Amino acid sequence: MRKKITIFGAGNVGASLGQLVVFSGIADLAMIDIAEGIAEGKALDLAQARPVYGSDSKVIGGSDPSLTRDADLVVITAGITRKPGMSREELLETNAKIVGQCASAVGQYAGNALVIVISNPLDVMTYVASEAGKLDRRKVMGMAGVLDSARFRHFLSEAIGGSVKDIQAMVLGGHGDEMVPLLSYAVWQGEKIQKLVPAEVLEKIVTRTKNAGAEIVSKLKTSAFYSPAASAFEMIKAIFGDEKRLLPCSAWLNGEYGVKGIYVGVPVILGSAGVEKVVELELTAQEKESFAKSCQAVRSSVEKLKGLKG
Ligand code: 2OP
Repeated sequence: MRKKITIFGAGNVGASLGQLVVFSGIADLAMIDIAEGIAEGKALDLAQARPVYGSDSKVIGGSDPSLTRDADLVVITAGITRKPGMSREELLETNAKIVGQCASAVGQYAGNALVIVISNPLDVMTYVASEAGKLDRRKVMGMAGVLDSARFRHFLSEAIGGSVKDIQAMVLGGHGDEMVPLLSYAVWQGEKIQKLVPAEVLEKIVTRTKNAGAEIVSKLKTSAFYSPAASAFEMIKAIFGDEKRLLPCSAWLNGEYGVKGIYVGVPVILGSAGVEKVVELELTAQEKESFAKSCQAVRSSVEKLKGLKG
């Protein structure tokens, strides 16, 4: 039987991801957006591209949350996005309500679905989704590590002057100012990049990676969308293909890395069951310290949100 994907939020990220889903034919698609006509219109547009794509993905769209019924995988992109000068944290309260509503619908209509959250602030919204939908925590995950790592790899490839395909590198921690690009694991065809590129250049790359989202917002006046959509699609392929990819995702921690009770970016094995395992890498003392700081930032946002609700 064909798989079904629901995308909540038919804005830039949702629509770009929808296009990848339909173009690839990986699944049928339901697009849902509270803004009347938007999801329906984009769904019709995508459906009419199917003969050109040669895709048999069925596409529906609308504002009714029950369109998500029986989805195998749900992606939540709904919410407001940053404007220039805003941090992801400033979206907390508004997006918690929106993401909470989407997740409740998932709980009601597609309780067995795997859920990928993209709305910001990412790690906290992933927590909100699992709570509001009363969903199995290992079936809910956040997309950020693949995106932050893609940005890191892009900048590293430019410094090396080589193909992005030959660069492996990861970013861990929360999807915020305290994210942790791991220089110690950055390799170019097995060779440590720290041996190939001067430390001061790498320092600039680390800073630019952390600010890459904000750099785009400053030009575009809204958030990035091609790279976030491509990153979520990478996760979808890993899940539907049961690929057991080792990818950084925002995952529920229950003692791994000495952290309990939050979602935060860590390397995981991603397969048909969702987050099948959290992989504990050996980190340098400095990386451990930065990761702890990043986790603390995520924890304070979760506490802040609980305070707002209480
Ligand atoms: C970004 O970093 C959308 O948070 C996303 O661009």
